Amino acid sequence: MTIAIYAGSFDPITNGHMSVISSGLIVFDRIIVAVLINPGKNGLFSIDERLQMIRESVGEEPRIDVDRFDGLLVEYAKKKDVRVVLRGLRTGDFESELRMANMNRHLNKGVETVFIAANDYFFVSSSLVKEAASLGGNVSDVVPAPVMKMLEKKYASRFNKG
Ligand code: PNS
Repeated sequence: MTIAIYAGSFDPITNGHMSVISSGLIVFDRIIVAVLINPGKNGLFSIDERLQMIRESVGEEPRIDVDRFDGLLVEYAKKKDVRVVLRGLRTGDFESELRMANMNRHLNKGVETVFIAANDYFFVSSSLVKEAASLGGNVSDVVPAPVMKMLEKKYASRFNKG
């Protein structure tokens, strides 16, 4: 059985992430979606909110686990006895992803990174979603419904200004 860890900030999860997860399920038996707890970076959503949005977005898929981790990703992979890190690749991501994959390889030769090409949502990122939503833009087509609900809640005062 091949398990992959799909780690990220997921602040919040987008349809781009969701498409990587669906494609990942074609290749891997199980996927652990793992949210990084980064004390140095305050996100829009708390870790609990991010986990809740991911759980609601993936629904009842039994091959997906949703978890949180802190510290090094390769250490978390070792703890979980997983040898694959899954990453989505969008235009412009290549250099930073290559650096990250090789740093992880340097830190632990037993963990490999596998990339899945971004699909139609290649232009979507969590930061662009937050920026657009904060300015009243309609992002309902690029995030799962549970995320849209939470974004509306966060930016309620701004949306209600008309
Ligand atoms: O959603 P992101 O911000 O692209 O995810 C990046 C993430 C969480 C996968 C990466 O920052 C990470 O693995 N952080 C944990 C710390 C770590 O292992 N750093 C060394 C890898 S270069």
